[in-house]
This record gives sequence, C-alpha cells and structure tokens, in this order.
Amino acid sequence: MPSQTALRAMPLEDAIERVLVDEATLQARIAELGAEIADFYRGQDLLLISVLKGSIVFMADLIRAIPIAHEIDFMATSSYGVAARSSGVVRILKDLNKSIEGRNVLIVEDIIDSGHTLNYLVRILQERQPASLRIVTLLDKPERREVDIHVDWVGFAIPNDFVVGYGLDYNETFRNLPYIGVLKPGIYAN
Ligand code: IMP
Ligand code: MG
Repeated sequence: MPSQTALRAMPLEDAIERVLVDEATLQARIAELGAEIADFYRGQDLLLISVLKGSIVFMADLIRAIPIAHEIDFMATSSYGVAARSSGVVRILKDLNKSIEGRNVLIVEDIIDSGHTLNYLVRILQERQPASLRIVTLLDKPERREVDIHVDWVGFAIPNDFVVGYGLDYNETFRNLPYIGVLKPGIYAN
C-alpha cells in the first residue's frame, strides 16, 4: 500500500482500477431520486439529515434535485472500533442542531454495507420521536448486509468492491473524485 505521502504525489485517477458509476449516470439517478422524494413529501414538513462526511457530495446534489421546501441538518458518528463494529455501536461526534420530534426525517447516506452503523443511528433517532424516519442511500452493497434494515430509496446497488469518490474515502482520500470508482488492488490493503 502506498503511503499517504506517495498518494499525494500521484494523480488520484492512477489509483482507480475502473469507474463503477460515472458522473452523468450519477446525476441522472439523483434527478430521479429527487423527483421521487419531492413527490412523496410534497405539502409536508421535511428534514434531511446527512451523515458526515461521506454523504456530503450526494447531499449537496440531492437537495438541488428536490424542488420542494425542506431543511437540512448534519450529524457525525464514528464506530467504537473493530470489536464494537459487529454490535454496530457508534459514537456521536457531532449531534443535530435541532430537535427532530414530530418531524419527517430523511437520513441521507453514502453507502450501506453491513448496515450496523445505520441500524444504530436509526435506533438513536427513533427515540427522539420523529413523525417519520426514512432512509435514502446513494449506494447499497446488499451482499454485505448483516442486519435487516429497510431502505426507502437506493441510488445504485453495487457489487462487493471497495469504492471511492463522490464523497466516499479510502483513508480520508479520494472524496473529491466526481465519480464512483473501484480502487486498484495494492492501494486498498484489506
Ligand atoms: P456499515 O455499518 O457496515 O453499513 O458501514 C457503512 C460505512 O462504512 C459507510 O458509511 C462508509 O463510511 C463505510 N464504507 C463501507 N463500504 C465502503 C466502501 O466501499 N468505500 C468507502 N467506504 C465504505
Ligand atoms: Mg459513512
């Protein structure tokens, strides 16, 4: 695996084996999702919650594809570590700015893998008694799912490859790529 310093010295595209979802395909699907979400919530209160940091690029494009009034808020979580990962226990690094009680909440995620992180987040948010709680994720790796979790809108179901770009990182790098790409073997060390 190249060091962080070596990564900085190379063009980011050189670390990408193949483009899984290109920019035009992303934008076309986000336009569809935005229209569906707007149709679903039209005339109702709506609060979108982005889970930092991976979902920020998706969030930024998605809100511009939802042509109805809505609010946004942000939350940041971190896994408690390898041992706790299987239980899905996450720590809240940054909480929401406002109460969600009685509101229609839509969680905006970048990717759902095992589902543990989101499962835990849903439990935390349900306790705060929103009027409704739904989920939109840009990417879904259904093969990797370990907990049963209902996802309301999915951008793309993808195979079990480690992907980066469009907000998703490897080691905090590659978030700025405008497409979803699969990392070359050798960059991603298991
Ligand atoms: P889960 O709890 O296993 O569903 O973990 C989901 C989180 O793992 C996502 O929010 C991402 O931060 C990270 N993740 C899972 N798969 C990938 C990937 O292919 N690329 C980058 N991050 C990923
Ligand atoms: Mg994430």
